[in-house]
Amino acid sequence: MSASTLFIIGIVGAGLLVIVGVLTVAMRRGEDAGPITGEFDKRAKRRDQAATKSKQAGGGETAVAVMAPPEDEDVTPTAPPADPLAMREELTPAEMGVERRKFFNRSLLVIFGIFLGQFAIAGLAFLWPKLKGGFGTPINAGNINDLRAEIIQSDGSIVPKFVASAQSWIVPIPEAEVPESSFAGLPVVAGGGSGEPALMAMWQRCVHLGCRLPSCVPSQGFECPCHGSRYNFHGEYESGPAPRNMDRFAVEVDGDTNSLIVLTGQVIQTSRAKVKTIAYPQGPSCI
Ligand code: FES
Repeated sequence: MSASTLFIIGIVGAGLLVIVGVLTVAMRRGEDAGPITGEFDKRAKRRDQAATKSKQAGGGETAVAVMAPPEDEDVTPTAPPADPLAMREELTPAEMGVERRKFFNRSLLVIFGIFLGQFAIAGLAFLWPKLKGGFGTPINAGNINDLRAEIIQSDGSIVPKFVASAQSWIVPIPEAEVPESSFAGLPVVAGGGSGEPALMAMWQRCVHLGCRLPSCVPSQGFECPCHGSRYNFHGEYESGPAPRNMDRFAVEVDGDTNSLIVLTGQVIQTSRAKVKTIAYPQGPSCI
C-alpha cells in the first residue's frame, strides 16, 4: 500500500473518530441539562450533618483521652467512633453529570490526540523520501552503446532521449569539448572513450520557473514554452529569462553492464556559458 493511500486512510479514520466523539459528548450533554432550582446544595448539607456527627463522636473520645481517670477508678465506656461507611456521601445526579462531562471531555481530548498522532505519522510517511528506485536515487538510464545509437542520428543530428524515471534528457557531448565548457571538472559527463562521445543527463526542469522543457529537434535545442528561455543541446543558456544553464545530474558508468547511471540525488548547477560547445539554432525554432 502506497504512502499516499495510508495518508488518506489515516485522515478518514481520524475524521470518523472525531465525529463519533463530538456526537457522543453532545448527546450526553443534552441528557444532563436541567433547570437551576436555586435550592441549597444537598451535598453541602450532608457534609455539614456528617461533620456534626463526627464532632460529637470524636469529641467524646477526646474528652475521655484528656480527662482519663486514675487506674483504680471505674471507666465508663465512651461512644464508639462513627462508622466511616455510614458517612459516605452519595453523588447527586447533577454531580454525576459533571463527572460524565469530565469523562467525555477527556475522551474528546484523547480522540484529538489520536487524530494528531495519525496525522503526524501519515504525513511523515508521505513526505519521507523513497530510498530505493525512485527519483532522488541512482537511476539506470540504459546501456551506453544503445543510448548513443538511439540519440545520434545517421546525419549527425541529435534526438535527445527522455528518461522519465530520472526526469532527464540524455544528450551526447564530445569529450574534447568538456575542458573548455562551463561544466569542466564536474562529474556530469560519463561513458566516453575510444573516440565515442560521452553522455550527459540534463534535468527536464527549466531553471527560470520550473516548467518542463521539451526538446526541439529542428533547432537542436531545448525551448521553454512558458517564457521562452532557450538552451542548446548541451543545456547551455542561449536566451530568455533563465538565470543559468540547464541543471544537470552527476552521472557514472556501471562497469558490469556498461550502463549510464544518473545520480538524481546530485543536481549540479552551472552559470551561463561564455563559450558554447555546440551551435544553436541549427534550424527553425519550435516556440
Ligand atoms: S519557466 Fe522556462 S522560461 Fe520561464
